[in-house]
Amino acid sequence: MSTPAVVPVLSTRKKVTTLTFRQKKERGEPITMLTAYDYPTALAMDQAGVDSILVGDSLGMVVLGYENTLPVTMEEMLHHARAVSRGAKNALLVGDMPFMSYQISLEDALRNAGRFLQQGGMDAVKLEGGRERADAIRAIVGAGIPVMGHLGLTPQSIHQLGGFRAQGKTASAAKRLLEDALLLEEAGCFSMVLESVPARLAEHISKQVSIPTIGIGAGAGTDGQVLVTHDLLGLFDRFTPKFVKKYASLHAEMQKAFTAYIADVQEKQFPAEMHTVEMSDEEWAAFLGEGKSLKVV
Ligand code: KIV
Repeated sequence: MSTPAVVPVLSTRKKVTTLTFRQKKERGEPITMLTAYDYPTALAMDQAGVDSILVGDSLGMVVLGYENTLPVTMEEMLHHARAVSRGAKNALLVGDMPFMSYQISLEDALRNAGRFLQQGGMDAVKLEGGRERADAIRAIVGAGIPVMGHLGLTPQSIHQLGGFRAQGKTASAAKRLLEDALLLEEAGCFSMVLESVPARLAEHISKQVSIPTIGIGAGAGTDGQVLVTHDLLGLFDRFTPKFVKKYASLHAEMQKAFTAYIADVQEKQFPAEMHTVEMSDEEWAAFLGEGKSLKVV
């Protein structure tokens, strides 16, 4: 069998960088970001023109079937980061630092951030937390690695937060969030995710910081938006957060396709002639003729 040729995808789109992010904020152009964990999805969204792809640790829930993001390891993240980097050539690629890959020591934080660029093909990293992460952010940025912050609902702290719940809903919590956002900017983040925070607070923070904010469940006043792709596509069947807009129902579509395939095989409708390979009558006759002289041992 001949090996199918790999057809390179030609793109005229320029590579999105952290500078593009900043320019988009200055021009008031919304930044688009989606999560991806594999090659075909990354390829499709890159070709669709998304600005940035996050290899999120949501991988643990929507692809690997864990209860939450806490069990995700560096090795799992790097495995999926590499697949995404092979598919996406233009989007800014951000690798999500998993739980315990940056909390123990600054050395760990720096080493693991570096692995995302050296071994995962990422352009930047993201990590969760505010003031308590400022030193780690400074160390990573100091090594020339762009860092995206993540405030509000930080899923790696669900046990501390008491579950997947909105953050910054009281005046004192909102004040703390704003302080953290200013600290992340000061520590050198090029951007930050604001997850599940009141829309008016997210808009206020977005005006107070000069770096772009990317919202998820944070209203329309942030500088960009991110969604977990499996939510957007209707591929994750466990639950759909209120802030998600579902653009497709792929879980149902997949089930329909699998059911049809099983029925086709059971009813001998598949494979049909068009799905099979044949050999010429001459070769078949010769084969049968040669077969006669074969000794069965
Ligand atoms: O892991 C992830 O997908 C994320 C997004 C929700 C921002 O952190």
